[in-house]
Amino acid sequence: MKILIVGGGGREHALAWGLSRSAGCDALYCAPGNAGIAAVAECIDVGAEDVPGLVALAKEKSVDLVVVGPEAPLVAGLVDALGAEGIAAFGPTAAAAILEGSKGFMKDLFAKRGIPTAAYGRFTDRDEAARYVREQGAPIVVKADGLAAGKGVTLCRSVDEAIQAIDEAMVDKVFGEAGAEVVIEEFLAGEEASFFALVDGKTALPLASAQDHKAAHDGDIGPNTGGMGAYSPAPVVTSEMADRIMDEVIRPTIEGMAAEGRPYRGVLFAGLMITDDGPKVLEFNVRFGDPECQVLMARLETDLAQVLLAAAEGRLSEIELSWRDETALVVVMAAEGYPGSYEKGTEIGNLGAADAMEGVVVLHAGTKAADGKILANGGRVLGVTALGSSVREARTRAYAAVDAIDWPDGFCRRDIGWRAVAREEA
Ligand code: AMP
Ligand code: GLY
Repeated sequence: MKILIVGGGGREHALAWGLSRSAGCDALYCAPGNAGIAAVAECIDVGAEDVPGLVALAKEKSVDLVVVGPEAPLVAGLVDALGAEGIAAFGPTAAAAILEGSKGFMKDLFAKRGIPTAAYGRFTDRDEAARYVREQGAPIVVKADGLAAGKGVTLCRSVDEAIQAIDEAMVDKVFGEAGAEVVIEEFLAGEEASFFALVDGKTALPLASAQDHKAAHDGDIGPNTGGMGAYSPAPVVTSEMADRIMDEVIRPTIEGMAAEGRPYRGVLFAGLMITDDGPKVLEFNVRFGDPECQVLMARLETDLAQVLLAAAEGRLSEIELSWRDETALVVVMAAEGYPGSYEKGTEIGNLGAADAMEGVVVLHAGTKAADGKILANGGRVLGVTALGSSVREARTRAYAAVDAIDWPDGFCRRDIGWRAVAREEA
């Protein structure tokens, strides 16, 4: 099977690493890829959002399957465009990707299907939004409706803060069109977890749970990032909780999407708050999490190419997944300054020694090769991933590898997995 991966971050390196181990995969391409991916796939310089360019590439290489990493090409209709050419793709069509593309659509689906989530209102009028906030009181959460690169959510401790957030989105338009509509929702207390399921339009297969750390600095403080580390499984998602999530969240969503004429295929990533009343959905993503994908791929034993093709072809009922019992943990190394402004092009050394350590794989998120050197080429640069028989062991191995890497211009959090380690020790 010939496979093309779309994207060039840590998630795509994890997918490339998984696919390169698949017996059925005889050619692997990645557009645009990065320096780490280049070790397992042929990287081709076509942008992840260049829909016509990607379709042309898939045809030129006669690929059997396209695996789409990021959300932007999904929302832009890459899977539809490939389908029109008869090319199988792993990922939702644009009509189904609306689950991530519009929070308002998602919340209305939850209301129709009785899917547990925070109480909410949708507003296109600034004064009505402000009135709703005054009625509900604080704490309260203000969200831009559209895609805002993870920055469109404000947790507000006071009514004044909420009104300021509404004004930023709707009057100052800091998120552009994405903030023309806002969703205002109830503040939920609990522990967050991510849950992933593979979906083929009808059948949903639970993958695994994970937890990530979104804040930039130790102690979960500082600005929000794409994710500074993650681990899987998430102890808060017990097997009973996983069953509840499948029954109360994933299956009703798949049925609802099919009933709306938007059958869902690909991976469904539920961001959940595990509350005293059970799981409640904070958001859906229509792609693998980054860096959650890194820990999922470290634990998955089943042949990834067969699994993704079955999802694309509506044959997931034939698949049974098997997982390593171990915990996987990933520490993200980012360029100093991230998620604010940072330098590109700084040199990273000793990657080979780190990658060779027991239970460790170093996945690249934003790197490029030049003159035989590996240079940082993004905000999040590396995902140092380790397996261990306990969270503590996985963490010890991951940080030993981090410490072996020679990159004075990078930083990482030193406390990835702290909740799980505390649970393990309790
Ligand atoms: P979202 O992009 O909607 O997942 O929101 C980003 C982050 O904001 C989440 O990961 C949560 O930490 C937090 N958050 C979002 N919605 C709520 C809510 N209703 N209650 C509490 N925290 C929330
Ligand atoms: N790590 C969170 C995300 O990929 O959205």
